[in-house]
Amino acid sequence: MREYKIAVIRGDGIGPEIVDEALKVLNAAGKRFGFELNLDFCLLGGCAIDEAGVPLPQSTVDTCKKAKSVLLGAVGGSKWESLPGNLRPEAGLLGIRSALGLYANLRPARIFEPLKSASPIKESVIGRGLDIMVVRELTGGIYFGERGRLIKNGSPAAYDTECYSVDEIRRIARVAFELAKKRHSRLCSVDKANVLESSRLWRETVIEMSRDYPNVELSHMYVDNCAMQLVRNPAQFDVIVTSNIFGDILSDEASMISGSIGMLASASLGEGSFGLYEPIHGSAPDIAGKGISNPLATILSAAMMLRFSLGEPEAAQAIEAAVNTTLERLRTPDIWEPGFEKVGTDKMGDAVSKMI
Ligand code: IPM
Ligand code: MG
Repeated sequence: MREYKIAVIRGDGIGPEIVDEALKVLNAAGKRFGFELNLDFCLLGGCAIDEAGVPLPQSTVDTCKKAKSVLLGAVGGSKWESLPGNLRPEAGLLGIRSALGLYANLRPARIFEPLKSASPIKESVIGRGLDIMVVRELTGGIYFGERGRLIKNGSPAAYDTECYSVDEIRRIARVAFELAKKRHSRLCSVDKANVLESSRLWRETVIEMSRDYPNVELSHMYVDNCAMQLVRNPAQFDVIVTSNIFGDILSDEASMISGSIGMLASASLGEGSFGLYEPIHGSAPDIAGKGISNPLATILSAAMMLRFSLGEPEAAQAIEAAVNTTLERLRTPDIWEPGFEKVGTDKMGDAVSKMI
């Protein structure tokens, strides 16, 4: 029996309930494909603030570093919103990404066949289906740049800075070019080079790197135009590579094409096979504990974990196929349409596990 040590961070809000469903599905996959998970639970975000006084306890970093990969639910909630920025739950999330060196965030936005009609985009626009990979730089840019408060012309002011080094751009671009090579060989680099100096360096660097990838068709787009094109003609995109903040915004937008943000998984990778896997959505405190959240983004993140970190591609594929089949019958409220059975978090997890 193959055994994998996994660090599990349930987090806040709906985090615990969606992670539990993903673990259920992972267990089912393990039974079928012959592996076992050895789970190490740890704290991050609001629950860590409550228990340990900080959003990212050192013990969490240590536990994650000892594991083969990390599965994460979501963090944050109104309870902790009045804390200073560096003590908020979100600081824990940024901290763990950085502490583990996870600079490449892969956010696939694809449309599951049974969900085509749940997408707010017309079927005529979706065409043959959608399969976009957003590659978001995750440990640099304005999220990690210098910030502060000052007085500007006598008025209190605040600033954040966007700064990228050539090395940081090169390593994220490398990930994106490699992915494009394995997909449909089209890479769109998104920036704001008409205004921002950091974007001009980004663009120059990506162009320079494209010489190593003569078979990948490289294009460039300003971020405002990209936001529009994602709705106008999403099928034009294969791989998108962009900065931390633009990737944050564009991946939420791209997720809606798939019907619900509750469907979008993500993988955060560094060097080697280690990775952190989390849904792209937040902790949704308004529906936490009601048993109605959609666990599929976390379940699909677990599938990405099997593929990228654990070398279990068949199990990953089985989970994705089970999700697809389950969607033909069952829907959580966020993706419910007439003619389908409306189910809660737990039933959705059960159904996917059973299918496996
Ligand atoms: C995401 C989230 C986080 C981010 C927040 C919660 C800090 O929006 O993973 O997309 O901005 O990276
Ligand atoms: Mg986001």
